[in-house]
Amino acid sequence: MVNTQVQVGKLTLRNPVVTGSGTFGFGSEMAQVVDLNAVGAVVVKSTSREPRLGNPTPRIVETPAGILNAIGLQNGGVDNFIEEKLPFLRQFDVPVIVNLVGYGVEDYVYLAERLTAAGGVHGLEINISCPNVKHGCDFAVDPRLTRELISAVRSATDLTLITKLSPNVTDIRPIAEAAIEAGSDALSLINTLLGTAIDIRKRKFRLANITGGLSGPAVKPVALRLVWQVHQALPHVPLIGMGGIMSANDAIEFLLAGATAVAVGTATFVNPTSVTDVAQGIEQYLKDNGIADVNELVGAVQA
Ligand SMILES: Cc1cc2nc3c(=O)[nH]c(=O)nc-3n(C[C@H](O)[C@H](O)[C@H](O)COP(=O)(O)O)c2cc1C
Repeated sequence: MVNTQVQVGKLTLRNPVVTGSGTFGFGSEMAQVVDLNAVGAVVVKSTSREPRLGNPTPRIVETPAGILNAIGLQNGGVDNFIEEKLPFLRQFDVPVIVNLVGYGVEDYVYLAERLTAAGGVHGLEINISCPNVKHGCDFAVDPRLTRELISAVRSATDLTLITKLSPNVTDIRPIAEAAIEAGSDALSLINTLLGTAIDIRKRKFRLANITGGLSGPAVKPVALRLVWQVHQALPHVPLIGMGGIMSANDAIEFLLAGATAVAVGTATFVNPTSVTDVAQGIEQYLKDNGIADVNELVGAVQA
């Protein structure tokens, strides 16, 4: 027997593999193919105060090693989430983490209060880093704004708080430190990298939004480097690492770099069972290598 349980704030995850926000819907869309009781946690699509239609199409473009997306945080709003989506998720024995997005501090505070009162939500992932909407990254590029936002949300909830960081910064460490000092229990990284693509025949941008967020294998080396840098700066903070994880081997690289857990995002579009495949692959790796506890891997990379 090997131990695959990890701790993220107050949450005990049965294994270190969670779903990447925005790539697994609200759970119900995937439940026919993925056993939700076999994932570490279900992280749902960003949820805002009001319903959002998202950006005009086209809003996804394939790239040589990933995708560019400019969905623009389409979602039904928090009332719809609590009434229509949450009852389904409550049937499962799995931590539910809701990813929150707002325009200002008061929106995040409102969402945190509503979701805490709703019951059946175990953690909040604060999305301060969406590159696909106007001002979507404002909080994530300024430690002062990060601190102000996370302090306000911290005062509004006892749920585990995870701040989702952007790679689109010069130095991620001051932002990570500000989030933790303000009361975030954990950090998740990375959100997508800002990019674009051009159709040379039409001489037009391929995305209606012009720019989008790059994800998938192309971003893995960048994500891994950022996880390692944040782990060096904040060795006791649980990190949920993500960016291009396609296999258990990719996930183990993130654990060795310092992530306590990982999220699988774009891989789900290639193979819908990626999240549970990665979890099983990690367990197999532990058995094959005589490692009793997955936590032994966290940050164990040697220079
Ligand atoms: C189509 C798509 C939609 C996404 N929507 C969200 C979202 O709503 N909120 C969020 O925080 N991240 C969102 N992300 C970012 C992912 O959760 C993840 O941080 C990123 O894609 C890197 O991981 P990956 O390479 O495994 O996909 C989205 C990514 C994709 C590809």
